[in-house]
Amino acid sequence: MKKGKYELRIDDNLEAVLKSIDCHKSSLNYPSYKSTMENLSEKYIALIKPIGYVLVDENTVPIRIQCFVTVGEAIETVINTCFETHNYLEAMMLNALADRILFGATHHLYELISTHYLEAQKFLSTRFEPGNSDVSMSVQGDIVDSMKREYALDINITEAYMISPMKSLAYYYEISDENCSFGIDHDCSACGAESCHQRKYIIRLHKENSMHIIQGIYGENLLKVLQRNHVILDAPCGGNKTCMKCKITAKAHGYTLSQEELERIPESEQKDVILACYHMVDRDLDIVLETPKEHIVETGFIEFDLKLPQIYTSDDGVKFGVGVDIGTTTVAVSLVNLSTRKVVGTKKKINPQKSYGADVISRIMYINENKSHTLGASIRSTIMTMTDELIVENQIVGNCIEEMVISGNTTMIYILLDIDPKELAVAPFKTVELNFEDYQSSQLFKSKSNFKVRILPWISAYVGGDIVSGLYATHMMDQTGNILLVDVGTNGEVALKTDNRIITAATAAGPAFEAANIKCGMGAVDGAICELQMDRDEFVIETIGDQEPIGICGSAIIDAIALLHKTQKIDDTGFMKQEVMVFDNIGIYPEDVRQVQLAKAAVSAGIEVLLLEAGLTISDIDILFLAGGFGSHIDINNSAYIGLIPEGILEKVIVCGNASLAGSVRYLFEQNSLHEIQCIMNKCEYLELSTSMEFNTRYVCNMSFGDLKIME
Ligand code: FES
Repeated sequence: MKKGKYELRIDDNLEAVLKSIDCHKSSLNYPSYKSTMENLSEKYIALIKPIGYVLVDENTVPIRIQCFVTVGEAIETVINTCFETHNYLEAMMLNALADRILFGATHHLYELISTHYLEAQKFLSTRFEPGNSDVSMSVQGDIVDSMKREYALDINITEAYMISPMKSLAYYYEISDENCSFGIDHDCSACGAESCHQRKYIIRLHKENSMHIIQGIYGENLLKVLQRNHVILDAPCGGNKTCMKCKITAKAHGYTLSQEELERIPESEQKDVILACYHMVDRDLDIVLETPKEHIVETGFIEFDLKLPQIYTSDDGVKFGVGVDIGTTTVAVSLVNLSTRKVVGTKKKINPQKSYGADVISRIMYINENKSHTLGASIRSTIMTMTDELIVENQIVGNCIEEMVISGNTTMIYILLDIDPKELAVAPFKTVELNFEDYQSSQLFKSKSNFKVRILPWISAYVGGDIVSGLYATHMMDQTGNILLVDVGTNGEVALKTDNRIITAATAAGPAFEAANIKCGMGAVDGAICELQMDRDEFVIETIGDQEPIGICGSAIIDAIALLHKTQKIDDTGFMKQEVMVFDNIGIYPEDVRQVQLAKAAVSAGIEVLLLEAGLTISDIDILFLAGGFGSHIDINNSAYIGLIPEGILEKVIVCGNASLAGSVRYLFEQNSLHEIQCIMNKCEYLELSTSMEFNTRYVCNMSFGDLKIME
């Protein structure tokens, strides 16, 4: 963390401010107070500018981070004038608003500092706040003096330790290797200010045999509190209250559940289960976190020769490389022995950003609204942790990594590099130039070893380095004939290689095949129903790991839709009278069918438009590479039956798993990699489908489950 001045977020939750002056929704004066508060906020909010100043003392053990946060003098002047003119209500309200913003700003600063240290697997201690803990009041004076000197600030502290401007706080954190406090900022439970209106609530996170504590201020959205503290949970709609997936066990929570929650949460669980994005923190909570289930590892179509571990040491001169694929849903990392050109281990984990929404747009919006680098820090930390785990598991000793190659969709790479992704979400979807240069590991990771990092470049905002990597993995440049690459993941990208062109396009397929927007959907983890068949009107299910079924993943969703159409529970238009249960309370709902229709229509229309652009028909295609983790496990016949892939070329389909990961691994093995990637980049053309009338027409045509014909 560098010393510096930070502009901080304005938390102006007016409901919470009203509550802090004891005005509740049930209060008689609530309507008039609310309207006064809204007017005051509109008039004066521009005067409140929360700023944080940070100094890092590396000479102390542990390292000490000094902070000074202020909302400035202007609002104080207004508050004083209100008091002087006997306008007590307004004075009180503005005072409470300024307090709220000041405390919210300290939270934001905490988030910035803790995110920075998280990458190095270091954690912040509790907040040492003079007067509220064992810290002498004189420390406050020391911090103010240091800040004055360093930043030439016009601030003062009296002998009674009153800071001017008054709406300011001076405190410090210590840096620790242990995540013992798990992100406690100011610890209200240890604070003597019992009547403080900014009092925070304790949220105890129980996980297997451990318990961590985080805090939320009154009025904060519970999902946001969990996000801020890097707690990973399913939140595909990013907190928009539409997916109903942010279900958490909060023991004896005491909340009154909304109608939607009552409908979604089985009666027997209602006492202990809530949906995180529905609740504003206003009480202490005990939350039980589930241990993440193991994910299937798809390693791509390259034959990864998994050997039994043997001990490697860097003294042998053996060097290793790391291939990484950052998917919107999952992150996959392969450790490869560069001498033997073998993959020694592969890991796959949930992308920690999933708590901020299932799709890239939700994440871009979160970053925009919160001006946050948290998502970037979390992915960098995940990649390094997975790499370290692979090194330890394979008993590799010493400074052994020589190179890392990363591929991913454009948004994921923007987030990795902390590039502002705002423009990716709005037309004309401009991208910045990615210098095709090596990074040093120290520029991205807090890693002990030093190695070079290569990031595969993107073609456009929605055809990313993962597709470049897939084209490379499938040796497109060496092949003759007409070849399609279809990557069905959270988005659907298609590429068509002919003898002299590579045309690419992205379709807004949505995350249906990743099961994010499917009611009982879940990732391909233990317990997910992954295959469905029908025996005399009864579903026969298969689950991953042969476990008790807990949801349904993408491959089985395709089976279900095909079977329900064959048995006429779904008609050609996609109409389904009512939900059909597949197992106990795990079912397929009419709205799930719509999501699948949208996704498969987008992919198939994209394929058709590429063929049209190249002057080809489906019968001209020699190979269709079906890429993407989910693509490895689907039933090709059912996929063709529902119209996800063209029926005419079933025998030409090659399922190639995670081609993006396979491409980054191939890059590590081959001398000529850079040249070949550059050839792919030079050859790739991008076709924008969002403005194509042809795409729109075909998209609508392909919605149906009837006879799917490629228009010729
Ligand atoms: S309903 Fe809570 S995250 Fe979607």
